[in-house]
Amino acid sequence: MHRIRLATDADIIFLADVTLAATGAQGRLPADFDEAAWRARFAEWSRESIEDPATELYVVEVDGRRAGRLRVSRTPEFVEVNGIQLHPDVQNRGVGTAILTALQSEAARSGVPLKLNVERDNPDARRLYERLGFTKTGEDKGEDVLQWSKAAEQNRLWNADVAERYDTPGDGMFSADVLGPTVERLAELADGGRALEFAIGTGRVAVPLSEYGVPVSGIELSDAMLQQLRKKADAETIPVVAGDMATARAPGEFTLVYLVFNTISNLLTQEEQVECFRNAARHLTPGGRFVIELWVPELRRLPPGVPATVGVADPGYILLDTYDVLKQHVVSHHFHFGEGTEARLGRTPHRYIWPAELDLMAQLAGFTLESRHADWTNTEFTADSPSHVSVYRLSTA
Ligand SMILES: C[S@@+](CC[C@H](N)C(=O)[O-])C[C@H]1O[C@@H](n2cnc3c(N)ncnc32)[C@H](O)[C@@H]1O
Repeated sequence: MHRIRLATDADIIFLADVTLAATGAQGRLPADFDEAAWRARFAEWSRESIEDPATELYVVEVDGRRAGRLRVSRTPEFVEVNGIQLHPDVQNRGVGTAILTALQSEAARSGVPLKLNVERDNPDARRLYERLGFTKTGEDKGEDVLQWSKAAEQNRLWNADVAERYDTPGDGMFSADVLGPTVERLAELADGGRALEFAIGTGRVAVPLSEYGVPVSGIELSDAMLQQLRKKADAETIPVVAGDMATARAPGEFTLVYLVFNTISNLLTQEEQVECFRNAARHLTPGGRFVIELWVPELRRLPPGVPATVGVADPGYILLDTYDVLKQHVVSHHFHFGEGTEARLGRTPHRYIWPAELDLMAQLAGFTLESRHADWTNTEFTADSPSHVSVYRLSTA
C-alpha cells in the first residue's frame, strides 16, 4: 500500500537520502560527486519547493514508511512531474506505475497533458514511461521531454488505419439486425427530444438514428473516427464536439444521452467513469435518460491462476483477453491473420464494470435505473446474459 503526502521541512534529509539511494542504485552518480555540496543545494531547493505555490513536493509512503519523493507542478495548461524517486527496496512493486497512472487520471479529468523529463542515461525510467503511453515531444537541457494526453492516446488507439477498417456496412455491428432494433429503441427513449451520443465514432448508430428523424449530436476524441463520420454526415446534420466524453460539453439540452458498444469501459478508471455519468447528467433535461450498452464481465470463465481467456478462435481471427483483476482491467488482443505465418495485432484496454457498480455510478450522478434488458428488443436480462442495455433516468427534481 502506498500514499503520498505533502513534504515538510522535517522530511528534507529523508528526501535527499532517497534521491541519492535511487540515483546511486542506477549507477548514475558522477565519479567526482561532491555529496556535501549537493546536499546543501538540494536542501535549499527543497525548502523553496515547499514554499512555492506553483509546485507540490510530496513524500511517498509505502506500508506506512517514507520511501520516495515526488514533485509535481500544476498549471491551467498541463500537469508536470518534476521528479519521482523511489527507494530501491520498494521499486518494481508497481508504486511508480500507480503514482503516474493517478496523475494521468488527474490530467485527463482536467483536460490537460501530463509532462515529464527523462535523462538520456535512465533507460529503466524511460521504459516505464513508454509503457504508460508517454511519447517524446522535445528536448530540454540534454533530457528528453515526454508527454501523455488522453486525446493522443485515443488517437493512437483509434488511428486512421483502425478508423478506415471500422465500418462493415450491412455486416456484424453494422447489420440491419443489430442497427434496426437499436435505432428504434433509442428513438423511443428520446421521446421526441434531441439525442447526444458519447463516443460517436464513425456514426454507426448516429447516422441511421438521425435518418430516422431524431436530431443527434456527438462527442468524440479520435480525429480519424470523426473524419470517417464526416464522409457520411456533415456538421450541420450531426454536430460533434471533439473532446472527452467524461468532461466535454456539447451545446444544447437533450432528452437522451447514449453510450453504446461497451465504450464506457474505454475510460480506464472508476473516477473517469463516474465523471462520464455526471457529464451525461449535465447534458440532460430533468427526467432525461442515459442509456448504456455494456458487456457483463466474463470472470466466471477465468479459472484461478489463469490470467487470460480466448473469446473467439475463428479462421483468420483470434480474440485473447488478458485480465488484471485488481485494477478491473482487461486488454483485448485482436489477432487477424491469413494463410501465412504473419498476423496483425490490435489491442484495446478496458476497465470492466459489473452492473451493480454501474448502478451505483448512476446513483452518484442523480440517476435511477429505469430498465435493464439483455438487448435492444427488451429480452429479459438474466444471470446468463452476456451483455445489457441499461436505461437510467435523471431525477425530475
Ligand atoms: C467501439 S467505438 C464505438 C463507436 C460508436 N459509438 C459505435 O457504436 O460504433 C469506441 C469509440 O470511442 C471513442 N472514445 C474512446 N474514449 C473516448 C473518450 N474518453 N471520449 C470520447 N470518445 C472516446 C473512440 O475514439 C472510438 O471512436
